[in-house]
Amino acid sequence: MKEFDEYLSMVNEAIANLRLPSEPSGLYDPIRYTLDCGGKRLRPVLTLAACEAMGKEPMAAIHQAVAIEIFHNFTLLHDDVMDNADVRRGRPTVHKKWNEETAILSGDAMLTTSSMLLGIKAGERLSQAMELFNGTAMNIYEGQQYDMDFEHRLDVKVEEYMEMIRLKTSVLLGCACGMGALMADAPFETQVQFFNYGVNLGLAFQLQDDYLDTYGDPATFGKAIGGDILNDKKTWLLIMALQEDTSGTIKGLIGDNSRPEEKIGTVREIYNKLALPDRIHELIRAYIDTAISCLDHIELMPEARAFFIDLALKSATRNK
Ligand code: IPE
Ligand code: IPE
Ligand code: MG
Ligand code: MG
Ligand code: MG
Repeated sequence: MKEFDEYLSMVNEAIANLRLPSEPSGLYDPIRYTLDCGGKRLRPVLTLAACEAMGKEPMAAIHQAVAIEIFHNFTLLHDDVMDNADVRRGRPTVHKKWNEETAILSGDAMLTTSSMLLGIKAGERLSQAMELFNGTAMNIYEGQQYDMDFEHRLDVKVEEYMEMIRLKTSVLLGCACGMGALMADAPFETQVQFFNYGVNLGLAFQLQDDYLDTYGDPATFGKAIGGDILNDKKTWLLIMALQEDTSGTIKGLIGDNSRPEEKIGTVREIYNKLALPDRIHELIRAYIDTAISCLDHIELMPEARAFFIDLALKSATRNK
């Protein structure tokens, strides 16, 4: 097994060598801009690491790893339009730097690029890889639709939220892990356990993303703070506050963005009073523990096991 940063270098090198056409620049410049902007590259690293953990060269899964990363970046272009987000990875979002038409079409081209990459050197695993990838993509669109639907509801239950984030975020981490195992020809049961590890990691990951959207440092997190509050996103934090804030203050603020900074401050104060930051971290820790327990069902060398445990523990306390 290698260090996270070694897998990261492999991914970055493969992305740098993609050789996207230069024209029409209106289509390809935003793609280059997005892919050059960094990002943690968590998903493709998981793919390479899972492949190596199952006894194959990590580079055997490089095309599939990059496919998943480009797919992820495609979802971000469209997500930023849907969420009206101005900043990502510390830079203007594509629809702000260019326009919404650009975010839609460059996003579409990224989706197709990812699907072309998925098949490269997949051999006999192609149909299984496509099934995993396309099924995951459909789940993500479903999750994104629930996310939008929930903006207009006040009665979203925690169970509905957990299902929504499983769909919009977690399955892609599951797919990334499962894909690496598939490319290494691991038994199907092992692929499923890797997928389950990724899904539980993904639940913790999205809970932490929601926490950072209210409590993060914008310089580190790379996104504007308070966007979820202004969009009335039914995050775990807001759902709990809607249930427990007896003053009715939170309910009164939903749909009212007349004083945005004040709204963010007031909502944050209510979250603090209800001890939600501590409570969400207990929940995150529980999902991390579940992710780690999935590893018990996989035959792993000690250093591979340590890699996936370490990565899970770090995700729980990440600040970017
Ligand atoms: C952002 O994903 C979208 C979520 C699922 C929270 P990441 O936090 O992995 O974004 P990058 O790729 O590192 O910027
Ligand atoms: C991300 O959810 C899910 C997808 C992009 C599919 P968010 O909307 O919370 O992600 P960020 O915070 O914009 O990265
Ligand atoms: Mg969103
Ligand atoms: Mg968003
Ligand atoms: Mg978010």
